[in-house]
Amino acid sequence: MSEKRPESMQRINTPELAESFIAEQVAAIKAQVGGEKVLLALSGGVDSSVVAALLIKAIGKQLVCVHVNHGLLRKGEPEQVIEVFGKQLNANLVYVDATDRFLDKLAGVSDPETKRKIIGKEFIDVFAEEAKKQEGIKFLAQGTIYPDIVESDGVKAHHNVGGLPKELNFELVEPVKFLYKDEVRVVGKQLGLPDGMVYRQPFPGPGLGVRCVGAITRDRLEAVRESDAILREEFAAAGLEGKVWQYFTVVPPFTSTGIKDGKRTDDWMVIIRAVNSVDATSATIEEVPYALLNKIVKRIITEVKGVNRVAYDLSPKPVATIEFE
Ligand code: XMP
Repeated sequence: MSEKRPESMQRINTPELAESFIAEQVAAIKAQVGGEKVLLALSGGVDSSVVAALLIKAIGKQLVCVHVNHGLLRKGEPEQVIEVFGKQLNANLVYVDATDRFLDKLAGVSDPETKRKIIGKEFIDVFAEEAKKQEGIKFLAQGTIYPDIVESDGVKAHHNVGGLPKELNFELVEPVKFLYKDEVRVVGKQLGLPDGMVYRQPFPGPGLGVRCVGAITRDRLEAVRESDAILREEFAAAGLEGKVWQYFTVVPPFTSTGIKDGKRTDDWMVIIRAVNSVDATSATIEEVPYALLNKIVKRIITEVKGVNRVAYDLSPKPVATIEFE
């Protein structure tokens, strides 16, 4: 099949166009897979969620969704996948909590690219193991979108993963491969997925692993997860959700001195980053109102265990990158 978006294809930017795209894809999926089973790695990100919802509409329980929790997801994410796909959409969902497996492999590893490779390889291994447990799967669904094809030869950008083992020889089902991100969101909205899923900010495949800078430890990882949850909650309350391109927290691998109840402390620092961008190749800093920053800082230093200092990163890309590693 051609890997080029047909020139005649209209930009999907209205509910009506999304509805007819959904109808076309549902028919195409049914025609492609017939009565066979399809496997999907469902991360809960926009692309895989939209693909899951399309396939559930087309073939229901013939789709087997595997949600691998690598322990580096944001607070509430695995729960949301289980709620939306397992409960509301009644999908055939396999949930794998592989947290210990990932964190054990990552222990003591500080090189960023090695961390990414371990996460990518471990993900493939866990997914392949789950795939082997399933009987008679012929197809693999993927949330490939058009920029993945144009920019990176069909491999999702940055993933640094090899691919599935050869013995798992699946035929691919890629219903959104000619869509741009904004179109995927319009389709997701039309499929009834929650706004928090459809309009969510970009989130790297290695997740919080690249925000727990250096060798990942469980205490710093929890500090990243909890501070990120506070930041997202406060940005949402201030109406910034969906307006600021990407915002998150980072915990570097060094402590600093603080003072609590008259005693010196030696605790972690949280760095807040909030950037605006169009395509992630460059980024500017969001001018977060001071009162809001102040509120977030107060919450983080009182609510997040082991943190005594919060900083706001004012560095644009270039020269800094968006992530810290
Ligand atoms: P940088 O840090 O290179 O990030 O300015 C640009 C965009 O890419 C995301 N990013 C990643 N996404 N796997 C991903 O799937 C990765 O390893 C990775 N590293 C960075 C980053 O969040 C930003 O949106």
